[in-house]
Amino acid sequence: MRTQVAIIGGGPSGLLLSQLLHKKGIASVVLERRSREYVLGRIRAGILETGFVNLMREAGVGARMDEESFVHDGTVISYGEEEFAISFKEHTGTSVIVYGQTEVTRDLYDACQANEGRVITEVSGVMPHDMKTDAPYVTFMKDGKVVRLDCDYIAGCDGFHGVSRQQIPEESRREYEKTYPFGWLGVLSETPPVHEELIYANSERGFALCSMRNENLSRYYVQCPLADKPEDWSDERFWEELKRRIPTHYAEKLVTGPSIEKSIAPLRSFVCEPMRWGRLFLCGDAAHIVPPTGAKGLNTAASDIHYLYEGLVQFYEEKDKEGLDSYSEKALARIWKAERFSWWMTTLLHRFPDQTEFDLKIQRADLEFLRSNDAAQKVLAENYVGLPY
Ligand code: FAD
Ligand code: PHB
Repeated sequence: MRTQVAIIGGGPSGLLLSQLLHKKGIASVVLERRSREYVLGRIRAGILETGFVNLMREAGVGARMDEESFVHDGTVISYGEEEFAISFKEHTGTSVIVYGQTEVTRDLYDACQANEGRVITEVSGVMPHDMKTDAPYVTFMKDGKVVRLDCDYIAGCDGFHGVSRQQIPEESRREYEKTYPFGWLGVLSETPPVHEELIYANSERGFALCSMRNENLSRYYVQCPLADKPEDWSDERFWEELKRRIPTHYAEKLVTGPSIEKSIAPLRSFVCEPMRWGRLFLCGDAAHIVPPTGAKGLNTAASDIHYLYEGLVQFYEEKDKEGLDSYSEKALARIWKAERFSWWMTTLLHRFPDQTEFDLKIQRADLEFLRSNDAAQKVLAENYVGLPY
């Protein structure tokens, strides 16, 4: 087989890149090791920046998103019984939208599969080769046969546990990592959201987040020990804990119900440098991870796709490699800022096992400064809605 761009991984990054390239007449093949149903079953991101929204529209897959998503002009932050709202709209003139990663992925799959054969699911043993030459290729197994896919470029969009990053030799790769001593237990329930905006809650029992997907689908999270398993948390235990972490007047009106999904995600900050190795380009979670507190994971994946897409179009339309040559540098400059923001939001809102009385006083001072200071709120708002590409 031959294509122009071989894309490893059919998550949101890989599918978005494929669809954008397709619109420009550039051929690609996406290789995904799971089934479409499995990929769609993963409940993850909920908040999209304007930059992401614009890319979806440019890819020709914005119609359902524009119809069904909800615009969020601000958010609530609480600590104990105290709370305040931050307006994104007032501070930045823009907003974010609530539209689940499941829906984004479904729209992209539908568009990509309309073009026969562009996404190959349930492949195994995917391996990129000869990235440092002008003739790279990818091999994989499908239905018991080894297939070779020749290409001009390879996009490694295969998430944190994928094979692409590992192909950059250890001596040429630098990884920066920070792990956090807790995870997030997430619950999806067919109940109305407790409030029209998201609530990020700092409490002495640990962090909680009240989010949503639509008017009858809520997404809630509580900080939990890393060793916990979803089975340790009955629905009843989850709702009781959530209520204890948010201000009483929200807890009193929280509508509870059976969970339809429950999972635990560890929190991690991670960056791999460089993001390019010859003709291999890493995008999204394959190159970097943020803790979900700033809602930045999927959004940084989108900015990578934007830079790579621009570079590829410049190459195919003008035979100019400048965009591809500066990909890693441009993508990393934006990513480190999202890493900083996500780390800061996490530090501001969580309880850490080794936190001293001093640390707690500093955290509270940070919250009170944010509550009372316009400039501090503007900094949060600008980062939350997304820094410019
Ligand atoms: P992935 O979604 O991981 O996709 C990679 C794909 O590659 C997968 O389908 C995988 O099966 C496939 N793959 C892996 N290895 C191979 C292989 N060897 N061969 C072939 N295929 C392979 N982000 C936000 O922006 N906002 C939020 O509100 C937000 N909330 C989150 C909440 C939670 C609980 C979690 C866990 C994450 C959240 N994120 C959020 C982060 C976001 O979900 C990720 O950043 C996003 O999924 C990254 O997309 P990706 O396509 O790069 O990687
Ligand atoms: C979500 O709705 O899943 C969500 C929202 C905001 C975050 C993280 C997750 O910061």
